[in-house]
Amino acid sequence: MKLDLELVPERDLKNKPDEKHLGFGKYFTDHMLVIKYTHGEGWHDAIIKKYGDFSLDPAAMVFHYGQAIFEGLKAYRGTNGANYLFRPADNLRRMNDSAKRMCMPALPVDYVLEALKKLLEIDQQWIPKAPGSSLYIRPTMIASEAGLGVKPAKEYLFYIILSPVGAYYPEGFNPVKIYVTDKYVRAVKGGVGEVKTAGNYAASIMAALEAQQKGYTQVLWLDGIERRYVEEIGTSNIFFKINDELVTPALSGSILPGITRDSVMKLAQHWGVPVVERPVSIDEVMQAVEDDSLQEIFASGTAASISPVGALNYQGKEYPIHGEKIGPLAQRMFSELQGIQYGSLGDIFGWRVAL
Ligand code: COI
Repeated sequence: MKLDLELVPERDLKNKPDEKHLGFGKYFTDHMLVIKYTHGEGWHDAIIKKYGDFSLDPAAMVFHYGQAIFEGLKAYRGTNGANYLFRPADNLRRMNDSAKRMCMPALPVDYVLEALKKLLEIDQQWIPKAPGSSLYIRPTMIASEAGLGVKPAKEYLFYIILSPVGAYYPEGFNPVKIYVTDKYVRAVKGGVGEVKTAGNYAASIMAALEAQQKGYTQVLWLDGIERRYVEEIGTSNIFFKINDELVTPALSGSILPGITRDSVMKLAQHWGVPVVERPVSIDEVMQAVEDDSLQEIFASGTAASISPVGALNYQGKEYPIHGEKIGPLAQRMFSELQGIQYGSLGDIFGWRVAL
């Protein structure tokens, strides 16, 4: 498939935002990648063009039945003059897992990766330089066919937009307070919790809002049946250091298989830290807090990177974790991942892709 370029003239390029106040997902670059899909024809009309509105029929199926999937990855301005992506093909492969579950078409991974690199070359001035900042990449696929029958659409739009970002949480790399909800659930086995579809996030907003109103940054989800087993934190996976082991909930069919989660497990194993994937009940976590065997909790995700958890609220009581300070394993993990992502450390697993 040919990739058309319809670039914004130099004089019409946007002003860049102040890198000290990027926040998360507030600004967008000059260009975007768009590829159309039509049943019978496949993917076609790939173009990099000016970032801007789409015109969609009000009956476009995405608006009604939510066939929408997305990914999140980042481009980093390297400390050595190069720019990097982190495990981009893994994100695109995971997007294809999401597509399969949502009855949407598979992407040509190699083609999309090359097109993304071209988009990043065109908008490279947007990769921010401020420490800890990056260019967040949001691949998205939506059902664009007009129609009200509940069935897989025959037309889709795939697009990639880019947003220069700072830290996801206002706390930056500092401990966050987490509210364990047993009132709402995010997903159930057999549902769509293990794929990155828009509705999972829509379903999470009320719980996150209520947690924020109580002074907590995010929610910790429990399983949808017993409300007993820990699943994930709002926008990230979760790790517990208990008795010198790094424990994380096993992928159960309702947990998103995070790429940062996988990286954390591989790094910890490489350092000789025992890593265990298994069901983790909230009672076990509370018991480990009580008997001091719980050493650290941290979350992992692309947007939030590594976020140490400084406190958990469960059933109305707040429990401080690791003295509400950053734990040594969270700190080491954060520094190692940043070092790999920004190019200042070696990349023994071959995760970094130079642009
Ligand atoms: C990411 O970590 O990239 C995510 O997709 C989470 C997002 C909803 C902010």
